Amino acid sequence: MAIYLDSAKLDEARRAKDLGWVHGVTTNPSLMAKAGDEPEVVLKGLAELEFHQVYYQLVSQDLEDMVIEARKAREIVKSGLIFKIAPTENGFRFVAKHGNEYPCCITAVFDPAQALIARVAGARYIAVYVNRATKQLGDGLVLVGELAKVLAGSQTGILAASLKSTKEAVDASLAGAKHITVPFDLLVSLSTHPLSVQTVEQFNAEGVGIHLKS
Ligand code: E4P
Repeated sequence: MAIYLDSAKLDEARRAKDLGWVHGVTTNPSLMAKAGDEPEVVLKGLAELEFHQVYYQLVSQDLEDMVIEARKAREIVKSGLIFKIAPTENGFRFVAKHGNEYPCCITAVFDPAQALIARVAGARYIAVYVNRATKQLGDGLVLVGELAKVLAGSQTGILAASLKSTKEAVDASLAGAKHITVPFDLLVSLSTHPLSVQTVEQFNAEGVGIHLKS
């Protein structure tokens, strides 16, 4: 089980790193555009934070260009770099040909059939867009469950993305996603609950513990 920050903003990445339990950061081209820095700057900043994993999505569509882009990204993020790859013919071709050298996550998966191909091509992960699937197909959590069955016993893990609430994140996990990526606000929300706050306030007001100063 691993939880990731879904953002390309370096200030959010720093705060996520400081939480101590965030495994990595996932980005995509839209998040990169919103970040305000050049992708090279974002990747360098993320590399310096030394997360276990950083996901970068290749924007090139030609196979040779994809290899060049992957090489450039790898020059910046030397370890823990996962390449998000669109589920296109060339995307799957890239995974099949270069997946050993460049660990890949087939992204924007909306159909278990795509997960089957990701599995046989050798992808390390697939990213399922849960909230988008719910909006456009009816039930993104059912999709996660189907993906979990299709990928059972394989080397291909499920990254649940496009999550918009704590419930959706937990439900995606219950449905079989071992990896969860969420925006910064949701990351913080996952660890808090109003009743926890209230209970801790009560402990603090009426309770005692070991004295720190003797
Ligand atoms: C993460 O890997 C995805 O790119 C992201 O969660 C997509 O979410 P969205 O539906 O909010 O764009």
